[in-house]
Amino acid sequence: MSDFPMPDHYPPHLTQAQFQEFMELYAKHFDLLKDIVFDAALKKVSRNDDDTKWRVEVLVNGETKVEEFDKVALCHGYQTYPQMPRFEDDKKFEGILMHAQQFRPEDVEKYKGKNVVMVGMSSTASDVINNILPHASKVYLSHRRGMYIFPTWRDNTPADLLLSWRRRQSGFFLQRYFPSVAQWCGDKALDYLMRSSWGKLDPDWRILPSPSITLSLPGASDYIIPLLKAGRVTSLHGIKRFLGPRSIEFTDGTILEDIDAVICATGYTADLSVAPFLETSRPPTYSGPELVRLWHNIFPPKYADSMALLCHSAYGKNNGFSFNDVQSMAVSNIFRNVHPLPSLSAMESDVDKHHAWLASRWAADKTEGSFDRSMVQNWKFQGFLHEAAGTGMESLGWGLKGWMFWLKDPKMSYLMNNGIETAHAFRYFETGKRKTWDGAREAILKANEAVKQFPIKNEDDLPEYRKEMIMIGKEGKN
Ligand SMILES: NC(=O)c1ccc[n+]([C@@H]2O[C@H](COP(=O)([O-])OP(=O)(O)OC[C@H]3O[C@@H](n4cnc5c(N)ncnc54)[C@H](OP(=O)(O)O)[C@@H]3O)[C@@H](O)[C@H]2O)c1
Repeated sequence: MSDFPMPDHYPPHLTQAQFQEFMELYAKHFDLLKDIVFDAALKKVSRNDDDTKWRVEVLVNGETKVEEFDKVALCHGYQTYPQMPRFEDDKKFEGILMHAQQFRPEDVEKYKGKNVVMVGMSSTASDVINNILPHASKVYLSHRRGMYIFPTWRDNTPADLLLSWRRRQSGFFLQRYFPSVAQWCGDKALDYLMRSSWGKLDPDWRILPSPSITLSLPGASDYIIPLLKAGRVTSLHGIKRFLGPRSIEFTDGTILEDIDAVICATGYTADLSVAPFLETSRPPTYSGPELVRLWHNIFPPKYADSMALLCHSAYGKNNGFSFNDVQSMAVSNIFRNVHPLPSLSAMESDVDKHHAWLASRWAADKTEGSFDRSMVQNWKFQGFLHEAAGTGMESLGWGLKGWMFWLKDPKMSYLMNNGIETAHAFRYFETGKRKTWDGAREAILKANEAVKQFPIKNEDDLPEYRKEMIMIGKEGKN
């Protein structure tokens, strides 16, 4: 979080428990718990009868409550509805057939001695495989096409340290002015990252070629390729149909007769059913799923000063959790009228242009279930949110403000442009639009010092999960 650093003892990648602990520490530090009603399931948000406020229906402790609010931000998650593929004759199958959302690590005993097919090859598939592998008899990985998979570590350095503000902005510049070059560079970079991390990829695994990074989000996994190399997981084509109680036919004609479980790690969509007031439309010549009319994928134009949806921007958070802080500052500024909104017709026209761009993405890849209507053009999305949030990040880079900052404080200018990308930068510059944080300078310096420990030379000093990855990798080479 931009104004609340993580405890020093946390490892480079948090466990679920540490993540929850950090959230709780944050909430306690800012005394937020007194304002939060927990265990409240949102049912529906609608306008009240005289269209002056939002009517919010929630289920609290089994009791439905209706309250009216002036402003609402829907932050109920990008990954709410499981995308479950439909398979021919699935009723014939008598084993477990479920989406990964239903998977619970505490139930792994269920898979003891079983033959399991994982469908999908992205981050969730990797996480589930990790959990069941020590118990299952055989694990298969069924996927219909290739995928860019990036490692979370590289040469004993967390891979996200490859990014800096300058590199990210250079990528945005290419996306904006030379989209084909950006696509080529993005795909080549991932191709290189994969091959340099894992060496030669067996063509039988069909991992490369992959759909372009501009059409399909890459997965994060340190395990999938080493496990394929080690022969501990077997690659299969997509599922064609179920043939019997334990029997499945795959699209290349392979038939397996002894499958006990099929777990589909086939992705998610956001749940927009709670917001029935949302308008949808389709651009001319486009016949994909209806597109939601949200300005910058966040604000319904008609209610932009009082309603925000922070669950509809695939790619928008590619710098992860830290960018959420920028989004919340921007929404707050718009709701408080600190950042002015354009006219309704200008917002509607922006939405139309965005939908035309989405239609071009849909036309470029019509694989069933792969089009994500929440895609954003990141340079535009992040640029707008930084401006609305008033983070002052234009003081970095090659513009006049960038040079002025360099003259004033060359050390900070260098670190914030080229050093580790840290959320504390978002609270550094005084712009009058949001609170700065007094500790930002020290926290940025400290983060840049902390990363000097990488690459970790002595393998004994690595976190346990990294040591495990290295062991599987070595197994794969033998
Ligand atoms: N540790 C982590 O960082 C972590 C862990 C879990 C999740 N996440 C994040 O959570 C989000 C969701 O991840 P996810 O892995 O659940 O989903 P995902 O990234 O959307 O991947 C879905 C996978 O399912 C495949 N697929 C989709 N429809 C299919 C169908 N009908 N038949 C066969 N395969 C199909 C896709 O491949 P094709 O469409 O190409 O065939 C893809 O391999 C991602 O943003 C991810 O980065 C992160």
